Amino acid sequence: MQFFIDTANIEEIKKYARMGIIQGVTTNPALIAKDCTGCADLKGVIKEICSIVNGPISAEVISTDTKGMVKEARMLSKLHKNIVVKIPAVPDGFAAADVLSREGIKTNVTILYTANQALVAAKVGATYVSPFIGRLDATSTDGIGLIDEIVRIYKNYGYKTKIIAASMRNPIYVKKAALSGADIATIPPDVLNQMMRSELTELGLKGFLDEWAKMPEKVRTCFTKGR
Ligand code: E4P
Repeated sequence: MQFFIDTANIEEIKKYARMGIIQGVTTNPALIAKDCTGCADLKGVIKEICSIVNGPISAEVISTDTKGMVKEARMLSKLHKNIVVKIPAVPDGFAAADVLSREGIKTNVTILYTANQALVAAKVGATYVSPFIGRLDATSTDGIGLIDEIVRIYKNYGYKTKIIAASMRNPIYVKKAALSGADIATIPPDVLNQMMRSELTELGLKGFLDEWAKMPEKVRTCFTKGR
């Protein structure tokens, strides 16, 4: 499973890119509005993200009609070779994704809530679909169940469209998406951070170091001397 980071925050992107655990980035208008309010040059922000992570970088259109989406998508795709254009899963969006996939522009059909939307996205040649699992759960609908359905449908017909499990609220979502066979999870920085932690690990580590501290100093320094 690949991990993308779900943020437009440059510092967070740099931090997790340095750790080597992310292979791509997803942004959306709300994330850009949150992290880039003071930025004069939004295209520059997207280019900077592309310079940090050498993988798929999703940037979303804000038009709501096919013509406008296609125009914005062409502009966004020219910013960098790794740009993937996020298109909302609405009728105009599917029409736009169809035009764009014929032009070789990569698309990520987003804000997606049903298996049928995922099926249509695959038919128009979308590169990725992003089912919003956390938001779906919040409406008392089984978000992970949706991933199961899409995985099965794509397998049945050999569709190449990749599934990005999105709207990940906590580490359990990521684990379940992995068990369901999602190709990618796009994960907010705080959830990535939680995924690396266990209180038991911290307690265990403390126990080891407490015992170590009881050894004579002369012996203890053998690991650290000359580092
Ligand atoms: C995915 O690409 C979206 O940016 C994101 O996962 C949306 O999730 P939210 O429900 O946290 O806004």
